[in-house]
Amino acid sequence: MGTKRLRRQLVKQLVEQDVLRDVHWIEAFRAVPRHVFLPRFFRPSDEGWTAMDADDPGWLELVYSPEVLVTQLDDDPSRWEEARRHPVPGKPSSSSSMPAIMAIMLEELQVRDGQRVLEIGTGTGYNAALLSHRCGSDQVSTVDIDEGLVTTAREHLRAAGYEPSCAVGDGALGFPAGEPFDRVLGTASVSAVPPAWLEQTVPGGLVVTTLNRPLGAGLVRLVAGEGATGTGRVLAQDGRFMPLRAHRLAEPAPLPEADESDWRPTTLPMAALVKPKHKFEFFASLELPDVHPVREQPSSGTSVVLTRADPGPMALTHPDGSWVRCRRAGDAYEVAQGGPRELWDLAERAYVLWKSLGKPERDRFGLTVTGSHQEFWLDEPDGLRWPLV
Ligand SMILES: C[S@@+](CC[C@H](N)C(=O)[O-])C[C@H]1O[C@@H](n2cnc3c(N)ncnc32)[C@H](O)[C@@H]1O
Repeated sequence: MGTKRLRRQLVKQLVEQDVLRDVHWIEAFRAVPRHVFLPRFFRPSDEGWTAMDADDPGWLELVYSPEVLVTQLDDDPSRWEEARRHPVPGKPSSSSSMPAIMAIMLEELQVRDGQRVLEIGTGTGYNAALLSHRCGSDQVSTVDIDEGLVTTAREHLRAAGYEPSCAVGDGALGFPAGEPFDRVLGTASVSAVPPAWLEQTVPGGLVVTTLNRPLGAGLVRLVAGEGATGTGRVLAQDGRFMPLRAHRLAEPAPLPEADESDWRPTTLPMAALVKPKHKFEFFASLELPDVHPVREQPSSGTSVVLTRADPGPMALTHPDGSWVRCRRAGDAYEVAQGGPRELWDLAERAYVLWKSLGKPERDRFGLTVTGSHQEFWLDEPDGLRWPLV
């Protein structure tokens, strides 16, 4: 099938998923050739990451599939050659995100004609191309911390007919030239909103980004105020991105074993805290700050951070050494906990509070950023509040 038809097919899927609605973005996804930005990428396998390029069967179909395509591992450009020889371990450090989450974020950006847009995290350049198609290259700036990625993205953008302003730099500091923007789009997630993003956005302009939190990550949209201030909402649509390099979360320490006598019954399933689709997850993240979900790999005994696809046996840890493990016991659950604080008792209390508040879902929460602090609130900025930083 030709690339035009593959693009139309992808657009049809995104429209059917109800993530792509605006006619301008439909037109951009139809026009921008994703394959130009993805001549090679990694594929996950049981043995590790393998490498794929344009000569491999199935490459083009994958390029126009709804999948995230990883383009760099461990900040190291040489890994692709190695993965060509044999499967390699590694952590994704750049990718072309899932088209669905790209569409969600572009729609949430509410771009109007003539507006200037800054993208943080150039990566492959595909998203910058979509923005350039919609707004005009002159109106788009994009920055990535990785010089090699920016050089390649710039070449691919030019080959596709776009020339946005591309810069190498720490996107946490905004765009090096520092001009004011109407819209800022973070395509790498952040532990807290970098003040420079708000400083570089005109008052009334919008900042859309994903938050990198061990629980309760997802999308927020802020309306910029004067200087480094802004206020906005947590969005109903969920989305998770790899973080800015300096915002990566530390690997949680391995958990101690639980004694058989430590286990007690609970009616609260671990999934309610750790699965983004569960309505309690966001509230749990507010009441249990810095608590990490962990999946243990029984074979090696090492802990790894939970992935969405494979929740596995569940546990939580906190940097203070507190931990809790959960297991099924017939149709119910049991937990064992240890360390300085009883995390599961806190989780159960949080669940009772959440129910008493009417089970608020993520989009009933907002976020206020001032020069000195950032905090979530329920319903109104002067309602119940929780610090983000
Ligand atoms: C998910 S990828 C972005 C995808 C990209 N928008 C695209 O369309 O291909 C995240 C990117 O953030 C970049 N990044 C990480 N830390 C950064 C930082 N401090 N400043 C700017 N970019 C950063 C990574 O190099 C990576 O390319």
